[in-house]
Amino acid sequence: MEKKDLQYWVNKGQQMVADRQRRIDRAKQWKFDTVATHGLYDLQQSLESNNGSIMEPVYLSTAQAYEDSYHMEAGLSYQMPNWCYSRIANPSTYFLEETAALLEAYGTDLPASCVATASGMAAIRTATEPFLIKDDSLPPMNIVTSAKVYGGTFQQFSVRRGEEQGIDVRWVTNPTDLDEWAEKIDEGTRFVYGEFPSNPSVDIFDIEAVAKLAHANGIPLIVDSTCASPALTRPLAWGADIVVQSATKVMAASGTSVVGLLIAKHDIVSRVGNDEMQADFATWAKFWPFRDNGPGLHAMGAIMTLNDMRTLRPRIAQMSDTALTVSRFLENHPKVDRVFYPGLESYHARDLAKKYMRLADDGRNAYSYMLMVEIKEARDGVNTNTRKFYDGLDMIWRATDLGRVKTVATMNAISTHQQQGEKGRSLASIKPSAVRIAVGVEHRDDIIADLTRGLNRI
Ligand SMILES: Cc1ncc(COP(=O)(O)O)c(C=O)c1O
Repeated sequence: MEKKDLQYWVNKGQQMVADRQRRIDRAKQWKFDTVATHGLYDLQQSLESNNGSIMEPVYLSTAQAYEDSYHMEAGLSYQMPNWCYSRIANPSTYFLEETAALLEAYGTDLPASCVATASGMAAIRTATEPFLIKDDSLPPMNIVTSAKVYGGTFQQFSVRRGEEQGIDVRWVTNPTDLDEWAEKIDEGTRFVYGEFPSNPSVDIFDIEAVAKLAHANGIPLIVDSTCASPALTRPLAWGADIVVQSATKVMAASGTSVVGLLIAKHDIVSRVGNDEMQADFATWAKFWPFRDNGPGLHAMGAIMTLNDMRTLRPRIAQMSDTALTVSRFLENHPKVDRVFYPGLESYHARDLAKKYMRLADDGRNAYSYMLMVEIKEARDGVNTNTRKFYDGLDMIWRATDLGRVKTVATMNAISTHQQQGEKGRSLASIKPSAVRIAVGVEHRDDIIADLTRGLNRI
């Protein structure tokens, strides 16, 4: 019988790595929907470790058992793949991570890795914090970020990084203006950050150009593309280094789980960090800071998300078509001031939207599920009519949520973007009269009927 010493387990680990690569190569041949449906889970794995189940297992276990001390040693020294302890990894989470990495890198030869987190906010923190390490050889640090970001991101940057840590946070108020990004970047900048499209103002930016600018300065571009999803926009293919997703949204569209994903391509650009970090950022993050900080995802949330992700592209296609019809209806309504939606002719960055927002495989333009409407008020800064409209909705849910199969409406100035105050809201262009509509998969006629009901209250 073969002696099971350390070398035995290291060899076994190498076989496991080769096996994983074989599955990745197989999935790389598939179309988007097939990748989303199967990921890396196959018959062999099912028969070997899951009683032939066609669905991926939910591993409700805190820890992995090892066959002997050498097995443990090989695993814990990262000499063989192992999941060890569910704060660090879990076999269920693994299937989600592998599928997400494949989808974000879809259509490219780029190798990419993913680490799943307990929330989108945790993914943003995990993605950005490693670049904010002390380095006395560099000037005082700053970050350059679009001001058009989700309220939680605004708070994480302005309060946690700015006020609490004294990091200079430089806001780009017009993300379509390349000069503004360029002016704000200098020798102290650690990363550039943008949201595509931004929640809730539905602004976008030129990912390819901003990535080039960042790289010319030796720093990475990090993109939150939650509101597009990889079914429409894959920033890594356009040069971004890291993508974060609040998979809570359209990826886990049923609304059962709060989930974050950090997907990074290999060999990222950075002024700080060691070679291991730059070579494979997501795996490095998982092995080191993520392990130490503990923002991991529960196995149940991972499998629920994976299940919803299988139908991401057809769902986005339907939601996008409905959102366009709804946007046109609202734009032509006399009680509406403005509608922001990348599919409208009136959209300020129409060419960029057409360039970056295309349905995977299909190739046609589609503009996702989120739109922002500003209701006509008698005076600027007042939200009387807006409240009448909002409170008049019956089927559409009043909630601070988006990407759901159920349509949800949000008055952002009094909710998601309340804490950032008047000044922060004006930086992010969020008026008191703004209502974000996250279009679901209901029939468009019923959505429009409910919006009409609300508008008739004014
Ligand atoms: C664009 C965007 N990024 C990040 C987040 C934060 O994600 P989570 O709620 O999963 O922490 C949100 C939440 O709404 C979001 O809309």
